[in-house]
Amino acid sequence: MKQYQIRSILIGCMLLCLTGCTANSEKKRDVLRVGVVLYTQDDPFINALTDCLKEDLAGYESDSLKVIMTVRDGKNDQKIQNEVVKEMLDAGCEILAVDLVDRTEPSNIIKMAKKENIPVIFFNREPVREDLMQWDKLYYVGGDARQSGMMQGEIAADMIRDNDAVDRNQDGKIQYVLLEGETGHQDAIIRTDSVVKTIKEQGIILERLSFQFANWNRGQAENKMTQLINQYGDEIELVLSNNDEMALGAVAAYDALDYDKDRRPMIFGIDGLEGALDAVQKGTIQGTVYNDRHGQAEQISRLAMTLFQGQTPPKEDLENERYIFLPYKKVTVENVESFMEQ
Ligand code: BGC
Ligand code: CA
Repeated sequence: MKQYQIRSILIGCMLLCLTGCTANSEKKRDVLRVGVVLYTQDDPFINALTDCLKEDLAGYESDSLKVIMTVRDGKNDQKIQNEVVKEMLDAGCEILAVDLVDRTEPSNIIKMAKKENIPVIFFNREPVREDLMQWDKLYYVGGDARQSGMMQGEIAADMIRDNDAVDRNQDGKIQYVLLEGETGHQDAIIRTDSVVKTIKEQGIILERLSFQFANWNRGQAENKMTQLINQYGDEIELVLSNNDEMALGAVAAYDALDYDKDRRPMIFGIDGLEGALDAVQKGTIQGTVYNDRHGQAEQISRLAMTLFQGQTPPKEDLENERYIFLPYKKVTVENVESFMEQ
């Protein structure tokens, strides 16, 4: 009997303490609401990056901090995205992370955020410097576009040099087509420019058969590529794609037309998402360049925390006062496995 009483009292105390403790810490817990506004929710790279971001921000949660990340879709329309940003500000977010629909049109978003004194971290689609300097709580996190094109070019040049059969018609030139992401996107413009330049600098003679916009999209790339194959057939010796989705679209076009392996061109992408890594391993594409979504997400969340705490990020962490650029990595069949483990 006595033992039973003691046990009940003990349990009672524990319960009191437990509820008391939670009530207490709930009261003290700060809340960080991060509003993430994407240019679209239909982009595999952006969705993968968003998943990383969610994980990283959750990692900052503690007894004294609750982090709520809300993701919204800009539906590929700058006006819609502006409205969504307004809603997020009205709902009371502390930090905005924005992947602009139109990287030349951030002014409305900047104006609204500044009025509410809410810092904005732009990512993936880089505003021009004048816009980023409109207010001191604006930042950009992204990849180093030039480097991605250079690396893609270096992988391609190495393989062309090591493999006579790439120049299928043996005319001493490599006939190529280029699948370009999107008009006006810094990654599309700069990757296109630097991949071609890099291959040429390596002493390889290139001949462009065509270049086509496919808006980063697998389906569009498959359509464009099907037309190109119908037009040029076996003449195409190399496909340079601004991202993996479009490279995989090119593969799908060759699959659908039942092209044998030895009649296909070399195909190169950028991003290093799972599907492309599989394709590199299988040899349906010859290489990609890893776009460090983990690193970018890590930097966005770290910056969000710093700004939330009312601090300014250390100067040495930033390029040109407001930018964080993450390096890319080359991926070929030799090292693809190490990326799959990530
Ligand atoms: C990625 C693409 C993506 C685009 C979206 C680029 O950095 O490589 O896969 O579609 O960003 O803005
Ligand atoms: Ca040739």
